[in-house]
Amino acid sequence: AAASDHQAETATISQGTVASNHSGYTGSGFVDYTNVTGSYVEFTVSADAAGGASLAFRYANGTGADRPMDISVGGRVVAPNVSFPPTANWTTWATKTINADLAAGGNKIRATATTPAGGPNLDKLTV
Ligand code: GCU
Ligand code: CA
Repeated sequence: AAASDHQAETATISQGTVASNHSGYTGSGFVDYTNVTGSYVEFTVSADAAGGASLAFRYANGTGADRPMDISVGGRVVAPNVSFPPTANWTTWATKTINADLAAGGNKIRATATTPAGGPNLDKLTV
């Protein structure tokens, strides 16, 4: 199927807020992760069939340090400590893509911060 966008600001958010104070996002805003380990955004993504998929996370990281996150699908970590490196400033957005197997039907895809700095600002997930 064609790739579809899933906005972070309409996903399930734990320890984060919807923000729009840095330009360049898509949709109506982005998620500003609270700066704690374990903060997450969880998307529900429907797949027509089971199999490999490309998960593209659009983010900004205006700090000088990595903001790694665990990516899980259906409660299972499929990509631990994925790097979300600096993007020069908060209005410069980049895309980090991983590949993961999805199940047919609904998939809970969660991006969880693994350091006390929290996650990067997250705009959307394209699958
Ligand atoms: C700043 C920035 C936020 C960002 C935060 C952070 O406050 O304005 O958008 O989320 O830094 O370091 O996480
Ligand atoms: Ca933040």
